[in-house]
Amino acid sequence: MSPPLRLGIAGLGTVGAGVIRILQQDATLLTARTGRAIEIVAVSARNRDKDRGVDLSAYAWEDDPVALAGRDDIDLFIELMGGSDGPAKAATEAALAHGKDVVTANKAMLAIHGQALALQAEDAGCALRFEAAVAGGIPVVKCLTEGLAGNRMSRIMGVMNGTCNYILTRMETAGLPYDTVFQEARDLGYLEADPTLDVGGIDAGHKLALLASIAFGTQVDFGNVTLEGIERITIEDIHRAKDMGFRVKLLGVAQMTGRGLEQRMTPCMVPLNSPLGRLENAMNMVVLEGSACGQIVLRGAGAGEGPTASAVLSDVIDIARGLRLPTFGQPAASLTIATPAVAPTPARYYLRLHLHDKPGALARIATILGNQGISIDRMRQYGHEEQSVPVLIVTHKTNREALNIAIDEFAGTGVLSDNPVAIRIENV
Ligand code: NAP
Ligand code: HSE
Repeated sequence: MSPPLRLGIAGLGTVGAGVIRILQQDATLLTARTGRAIEIVAVSARNRDKDRGVDLSAYAWEDDPVALAGRDDIDLFIELMGGSDGPAKAATEAALAHGKDVVTANKAMLAIHGQALALQAEDAGCALRFEAAVAGGIPVVKCLTEGLAGNRMSRIMGVMNGTCNYILTRMETAGLPYDTVFQEARDLGYLEADPTLDVGGIDAGHKLALLASIAFGTQVDFGNVTLEGIERITIEDIHRAKDMGFRVKLLGVAQMTGRGLEQRMTPCMVPLNSPLGRLENAMNMVVLEGSACGQIVLRGAGAGEGPTASAVLSDVIDIARGLRLPTFGQPAASLTIATPAVAPTPARYYLRLHLHDKPGALARIATILGNQGISIDRMRQYGHEEQSVPVLIVTHKTNREALNIAIDEFAGTGVLSDNPVAIRIENV
């Protein structure tokens, strides 16, 4: 039997406590699967006296996670504190500097410092793994780096923030406005300490940037992810979209185009009956498209104690088994710097307009679209409301620049009673 794998765990919150619970409950199973014992040696968090629902009495305590990371009696440092910088980054760097392998669930840190940390890990001959950072319990990092390693990936799509999917689902099913459902999500403990990370698309954008790096062999480039949150999605658009056969999702798309790497995390419409359209509540879904495998759809819980701890354990088990893959699936020094695509791939768009009910109003709009080369696929005019008439237009494929020009020109017509809304329809 190999010697035990000795762990130091920094961060004893939702994920940290979950990891300890599995290690305590399933020690025999894990040893059978790895051929060695996996032992927790020392732990760290801010508050030593907090009850975390797991017995910590057998482990050494370190107030300072950096000191924990450098201890001589640990082989693997598990970072579960969070935050892109501060103690998480300092402790990760310290662990690698001391020759320790590192497992983290920290997408914020890796989306910003992933390349530098991966280089440091490889220089030190250490593993740096992050399955839990993307889509919680869904083993998507493993799927890309191992199962699909024989493919040229063409596109990755996904709903990767459970909180946003929960909010959008509740708005539709309960008919409640965004602010009410946002508060509900807060009461349920779904929101990050800084909720803009969730609803602003930043958390999901971090995850997309990490997957894009593995899929396309490029350095993580979170700075070039086009981000738009769900704060401006109204219940009207959710219901009108459904009428037209679509559902609104905060959707991530990364694809390598002839114009460069396109990375977007924005509200999109997807067909109601597509797997993404049917994804409800706080679930995540990742769709991977490869040259040989075709389309692969992965669905599961993207957050929470059990699913996230499951993903952390997957990395721990790999390291216990001696499986040491590069952080982003190939040596960090070989990752290229992608040219960011300046404009999104042409797509169909959903347009929601409120028009004054007077002769020629619709004709003015149709003319402007026509002048920009934008063809109308479908259109629906609803009954007269208090001030105006709601009109929905689904366009044929067009480029966003032409649509933006058209929308600017709408403003000069005097026929609109409200700002228009344009939402991309993703071909899924
Ligand atoms: P959490 O419940 O807020 O726990 C954070 C832990 O870190 C707490 O135990 C806290 O100590 C400790 N901590 C914070 N600052 C520290 C410091 N300076 N020194 C020592 N300990 C410190 O967070 P979480 O939800 O478990 O998330 C942990 C990581 O997993 C984050 O990177 C997060 O993005 C990622 N993640 C979470 C989920 C999820 O569903 N929760 C899913 C995927 C990924 P105290 O308890 O003493 O305050
Ligand atoms: N806030 C994230 C979500 C947690 O809602 O999906 C998991 O990363």
